[in-house]
Amino acid sequence: MSKRTVEEKLAQSLTAESIELIPYLPYLLQDLWELGSSPEDMLEMITKHLRVSAETQALDLGCGKGAVSVNLAKELGCKVKGIDLIPEFIAFAVDKAQEFGVGELCEFAVGDITAAVQTEKGYDLVILGAVGDVLGNTEETITLLKNTVKKGGYIIIDDAYGNDETDPRYPTREGWLTVFNRTGVRLIDEKVIEDEELVSLNNQQQALIGKRANELKRKFPEKAHLFDGYLRSQQAECAALEKEISGVTLLLQVID
Ligand SMILES: C[S@@+](CC[C@H](N)C(=O)[O-])C[C@H]1O[C@@H](n2cnc3c(N)ncnc32)[C@H](O)[C@@H]1O
Repeated sequence: MSKRTVEEKLAQSLTAESIELIPYLPYLLQDLWELGSSPEDMLEMITKHLRVSAETQALDLGCGKGAVSVNLAKELGCKVKGIDLIPEFIAFAVDKAQEFGVGELCEFAVGDITAAVQTEKGYDLVILGAVGDVLGNTEETITLLKNTVKKGGYIIIDDAYGNDETDPRYPTREGWLTVFNRTGVRLIDEKVIEDEELVSLNNQQQALIGKRANELKRKFPEKAHLFDGYLRSQQAECAALEKEISGVTLLLQVID
């Protein structure tokens, strides 16, 4: 395991370069609900491959503001537990679940997912959507996620394939397949995000975040470098997703 702290990984999972930015993230991201994963893509995969009933229990680790959890409960009628470290995100998720009429199906909790993977067990489906390497490298992540689901249960990960072998954080598709073999999971489906879709979504989100960053710059001029840095790293991540890596949603099934 790397020596980065939970806070450093948290900041990185939201593309912040420094932990100094963490207190400002709820303000910067207040106009967004989806923080990384596409609830539509996940729903489509689940509907295609899983038999979901009112008894189905899903766990959404690093659920952010609950966009995936709430949509799953609303569209499929299953139970979902979402866990995230940022209390403002969890409060937002609770409100959204009420707004969508699925407050009874959704449970949201503030918590550290590196601890939750040790105690949460027996789910039919676990989701790790755009959370990065908070749980470790690819192999460590899948091994920990496997512990939370039943035998034959499912794992959905939104991450990225490296386009070549230059960056160890992003294995190539072949690299991921090797890890699936080693960890006893089977790739059931995958959806690589289209560049056009990504650029259009990124432009929309950048505009919203940029407006909030400007407000913060006016209020805290001495921290302008922090907010400018955030906008730059958001753009850099999008550029990387267009060139060096390909964002992908993976559906895996636990086989042993
Ligand atoms: C890019 S966001 C994705 C949120 C959500 N899955 C979605 O797709 O909308 C990454 C999330 O991981 C959460 N996170 C990072 N490290 C965490 C940890 N150790 N425990 C719980 N949540 C964590 C962040 O607070 C953030 O909400």
